[in-house]
Amino acid sequence: MTKIATLEIDGNKYEFPIIKGTEDELGIDIKTLRADTGGVTTIDPGYKNTGSCESAITFLDGEKGILRYRGYSIEELAEKADFLEVCYLLIFGELPTSEQLEKFDKDIKEESQVDEDMKKILDGFPKSAHPMGVLSSLTSALIAFNPGSVDVDSEEAMYDAIVKILAKFPVLAAWTMRKKKSLPLDYGDNSLGYVENLHKMMFSKPNQSYEANKIVNDALDKLLILHADHEQNCSTSTVRIVGSSHAGLFASLSAGISALWGPLHGGANQAVIEMLEAIREDGGDTAKYIAKAKDKNDPFRLMGFGHRVYKNFDPRAKIIKKSAEEVLSDLGIEDPVLDIAKGLAEVALKDDYFVQRKLYPNVDFYSGIIYRALGIPTDMFTVMFALGRLPGWIAQWREMRLRKEPIGRPRQIYIGENHRKFTAITNR
Ligand code: SDX
Repeated sequence: MTKIATLEIDGNKYEFPIIKGTEDELGIDIKTLRADTGGVTTIDPGYKNTGSCESAITFLDGEKGILRYRGYSIEELAEKADFLEVCYLLIFGELPTSEQLEKFDKDIKEESQVDEDMKKILDGFPKSAHPMGVLSSLTSALIAFNPGSVDVDSEEAMYDAIVKILAKFPVLAAWTMRKKKSLPLDYGDNSLGYVENLHKMMFSKPNQSYEANKIVNDALDKLLILHADHEQNCSTSTVRIVGSSHAGLFASLSAGISALWGPLHGGANQAVIEMLEAIREDGGDTAKYIAKAKDKNDPFRLMGFGHRVYKNFDPRAKIIKKSAEEVLSDLGIEDPVLDIAKGLAEVALKDDYFVQRKLYPNVDFYSGIIYRALGIPTDMFTVMFALGRLPGWIAQWREMRLRKEPIGRPRQIYIGENHRKFTAITNR
């Protein structure tokens, strides 16, 4: 029996069906609102209460701290799966058989060359360029070298574009980092696994053989899994809305990278480490920074804290915090910044300001500590987030196209001038 929502305006009643998801979430279907009411619309800045789509990819429960990809818990996937398996799961909906995974891996490896002329575009950037701006540009530039990735209406064309970007994106990310360090650019080694090859492309030295480190690669694999998707967040919504105009996959991803760059979103992992470093240089005075975060007149925010959906804890932050402790101890690294982070969290989690506003450490609060331990430069942290989120963006874009969702075009309430006559400049 479909539940009904009733809206009353000026004594007129309007009824709208309530849809129920597989996790019992309820949504008022207002598809006919403007037609039924003669043009009344809704207003919801930041879409805090608005669902943009029905999706079968990721389920979040912000109250219970639940995160599942295609029904599998993030805790199980982080422990038992590898990143390429999770890419397949998110994009195609099922964990792959070994044959399916083998073919997926092979198809990706066959596409891991990037047109050498792309290096000329990379050469155009100053070394001071932020890696996220470079990566967004290179992702868009890839279209010129892969014109078949634009009009992907058939599932086959979609699959080709998907394996292409999964193959080339890590190369572009590694090139972006190495260019800033004036290191030679290479394509890694197709005999290695997906994440191991990413690490090799980023860190191999031209004058010595590459030694894989299992602790490092396992930590990287787990971090990429934890960042792989997160339902309709800012950058994913960007990928979906750009893709809804039938712009190609690479163009949609390029827009998503730019959205992720912002410090309120994926850029927070870089901002967290910069904040922790500033606190360390300031003598570790966490009380001072907690006070700044609470001061309405101070623009300072406790980066890595708070979340639009999670109001008890971010399950990813729990896993990453434990992994940070393990990786630093396995690698024999003493990083005072981890102690500052833990001290800051301890104080904030007892402080009324944060408790009342349900602000807890999010995915970005501890991740930078692991990236640092793995030798990744701070300004590359959000690129690492993008590498993890790539399969989620792809899965969401593919679902939107396969479901033939309409072009995204929100409405507004106009608050500007009413109609007025033009005044000649001589009379102004
Ligand atoms: C990601 O959406 C996703 O799923 C994103 C993500 C993903 O995987 O895709 O999880 C990744 O983006 C994680 C978030 C990374 N951002 C940060 O860590 C930046 C710091 N956090 C905030 O700026 C903020 O918490 C947001 C942006 C994350 C969420 O903002 P909301 O939901 O819009 O909440 P809000 O800004 O309306 O804040 C509510 C109150 C306000 O105070 P009051 O006006 O009620 O007095 O909480 C305060 C805010 O000032 N507040 C903070 C704070 N975050 C919120 N105060 C101090 N420090 C903070 N970090």
